[in-house]
Amino acid sequence: MVSDPVSHDLGSEPAGLTPGARARSRFPIFEHTTYANSCSQGALSVDVRRAYEEYLAGWDEHGAEWEHWVERAEAARAAFARLVGADLGEIAVTSSVSQAVSALVSALPLERGRNRIVISEFEFPTVGQIAHAQELRGAEVVHVRPESDGRIPLERFAEAIDERTALVCCTAISYRTGYRLDVAEVAGLAHERGALCLADSYQAAGAVPLDVRALGVDLLTAGTVKYLLASAGLAFMFVRRDLHETLLPTQTGWFADEDIFRMDISDYSPAADARRFDAGTPPVPNIYAGIAGMRIVEEAGMAAIEAHVRRLVDRLLAGLDGLGATVATPRGEGEYGPLVCVASTDPHALVGALRAEQIVTSSRDANVRISLHLYNVEDDVERILEALRAHRQLLAQAL
Ligand SMILES: Cc1ncc(COP(=O)(O)O)c(C=O)c1O
Repeated sequence: MVSDPVSHDLGSEPAGLTPGARARSRFPIFEHTTYANSCSQGALSVDVRRAYEEYLAGWDEHGAEWEHWVERAEAARAAFARLVGADLGEIAVTSSVSQAVSALVSALPLERGRNRIVISEFEFPTVGQIAHAQELRGAEVVHVRPESDGRIPLERFAEAIDERTALVCCTAISYRTGYRLDVAEVAGLAHERGALCLADSYQAAGAVPLDVRALGVDLLTAGTVKYLLASAGLAFMFVRRDLHETLLPTQTGWFADEDIFRMDISDYSPAADARRFDAGTPPVPNIYAGIAGMRIVEEAGMAAIEAHVRRLVDRLLAGLDGLGATVATPRGEGEYGPLVCVASTDPHALVGALRAEQIVTSSRDANVRISLHLYNVEDDVERILEALRAHRQLLAQAL
């Protein structure tokens, strides 16, 4: 049953929105469910529902609102630029991270002598698969594997990156274990050896502060499905300004042209900035949703979200220790974010057992994934711990 959006209408201005109970009231699912699966999909807010309705209402009232729709795409670009500390012209708007990364690698010459793509073992399948697809163009893919403790020490990257490396792909927070990588260190290593560094930050954007200058990355990707609180079909890629001139994507489209209204098919003339990594018609409905989702995050503030989530995650970790559970997520300072992965003897069964108690989590490998966001509160953590205690037989116990 869909809740009546009117009863949740807290006004169009979420000004002063604070993480916790205040933010939670915008997400109807919490009336009946303990939602701890933002690593898979952020919860639906009344704001995002209203944004989709606005899109439909405008379409209904005005027909083709092209100018307004293009302006909305620019508003989404600007919102993501603010989120990661980039300039507007350094952001591409795409429909998925896959599309962004495919366009990026299509711009790499992968010439002899510099044809290697280094990927961490924690890359999302799409990044690894796109890298391997470049083997058809002469690329060599080098994998950087984690240690048995779930960490990837910098030395592993140092061994893999050399003067033959064109691109290093790393992931800010692993979707598999919740491990948070020191992206700035990896970017530094890549640069020392003349390679570009791409940080797939899908599992970090909206949950932890991201600053492309502080990270020193050349490229950064994320989409709106998870901690940016919107839906499928919208993603972004930061492309550092001084790369624009040299990176020429051959995977392209008319919205990547220097003048989309020129409608000229006589040549390839990409936009001068990161828009050259855009593609076809922008995903307009998802852009409406994405703006609404990112607005919630922006209003709450990244520092406040991070601090709130950290408190909850630390409480969860302490409770898991109390249960004697095995936590797969590394626990050092700076090594984890909003996602905690707990080893289970049967993760599928454990996710199902929690689901039966109206607790939503997910699983990957041998772990149950519990992820917390601005709308979670301490009661959620206690409920989850209580349910895990009741299903203790499905937890892999610490040795
Ligand atoms: C780290 C990471 N990268 C990428 C994706 C998805 O990429 P795409 O937008 O291509 O579906 C996800 C999640 O689904 C993810 O967790």
